[in-house]
Amino acid sequence: MNILLTGGTGYIGSHVAAALISTGHEVVCFDNLANSDAVVIDRLEAITGTAIPLVVGDIRDGDALRHALTEHGVEAVIHFAGLKAVGESVAQPIKYYDNNVRGTLSLVEAMADCGVKTLVFSSSATVYGEPRYLPLDESHPTSATNPYGRTKLMIEEMLTDIAAADPDWRIATLRYFNPVGAHDSGLIGENPNGIPNNLMPFISRVAAGRLAELSVFGNDYDTPDGTGVRDYIHIVDLADGHVAALDTIVKIEPALSTWNLGTGQGYSVLDMVEAFERVNSVRVPYRVAPRRDGDVASCYASPERAARELGWTAQRDLEAMCASSWSFERTLAMRNSD
Ligand code: NAD
Ligand code: UFG
Repeated sequence: MNILLTGGTGYIGSHVAAALISTGHEVVCFDNLANSDAVVIDRLEAITGTAIPLVVGDIRDGDALRHALTEHGVEAVIHFAGLKAVGESVAQPIKYYDNNVRGTLSLVEAMADCGVKTLVFSSSATVYGEPRYLPLDESHPTSATNPYGRTKLMIEEMLTDIAAADPDWRIATLRYFNPVGAHDSGLIGENPNGIPNNLMPFISRVAAGRLAELSVFGNDYDTPDGTGVRDYIHIVDLADGHVAALDTIVKIEPALSTWNLGTGQGYSVLDMVEAFERVNSVRVPYRVAPRRDGDVASCYASPERAARELGWTAQRDLEAMCASSWSFERTLAMRNSD
């Protein structure tokens, strides 16, 4: 298929682009470069040996979307474009509703206008709110604890209504757990601007000496070692999950399906530090700091529905996640010293 990736030069979008091309699909990236760099396209072309068109545009610009959809003969869209910083969403909710909710409305309008009705959407485990039971399956009640999470919930509800009104749509809502790691090539990975919010890029930068120490946010949770437990999933496995979802929705009956993309395995913050040090023979100094507002003790997936219906399960273990994160960090350091 010919697939448009909104947010295609971002962390997850770029890995999905590589996975789609390796399985014979063609991709067009559509991104306003608010949180990524066009150089990602050069790296993707080096990885895949394929020319990849980049449309620099904003998803809130319906004309730009319609033009890209028709000019490139697009048959399906994977929608990654969005803002994702929880703290920023609390401080600037209008920016989040505008970018994420209005942006998605503009996208589905353009798709409907162009007769493109196959869509994979990047949702998040954040839509489960405070877990009532674990592991989290797709039937767990949804709620939101911050504006970012609320944008994901609103978009899920909007897509549910669209699918109910028009059975020609084929929509997959993918609820990601905690994507980490990088492509085997070391050419693409997660490189957030400024100080990272997320654990793995923070650990990498501490190990590289770019940050002094990790703050472990709380060690008094009701978990085996008192630190927060999450379901970390290798980005290459997550990317393969998108290929499986896209290949599945075009063949099945329901207009909308929802799948968790996680491993089912929880690791604590200290498990992550220990594994990163062991696998990469580096030191990650840390100190225990107060809990971070809004964090839950434990969050991990039931990946069973995806295994059953998509024939997909995560293959890569924690060691592979730590090794690829470090390898990408070192490639970045080499590039910066050029
Ligand atoms: P990212 O910031 O690396 O990628 C998002 C891309 O979207 C960026 O390249 C950015 O420039 C682009 N973008 C943002 N707003 C845009 C707009 N209005 N028009 C066009 N392009 C726009 O983030 P990511 O980690 O790759 O996340 C991709 C998606 O997955 C997001 O929707 C995010 O909410 C969701 N998600 C991410 C995680 C995670 O831990 N990384 C977890 C759950 C869900
Ligand atoms: N943590 C630290 N120190 C840090 C950063 C994180 O101790 O410097 C801890 C957190 O307290 C938490 C764990 O590491 O226990 C993971 O934190 P992340 O910020 O990496 O990830 P979250 O689980 O908080 O959130 C991520 C994404 C959300 C998404 C969610 C579920 O940032 O957007 O996964 O998919 F919604």
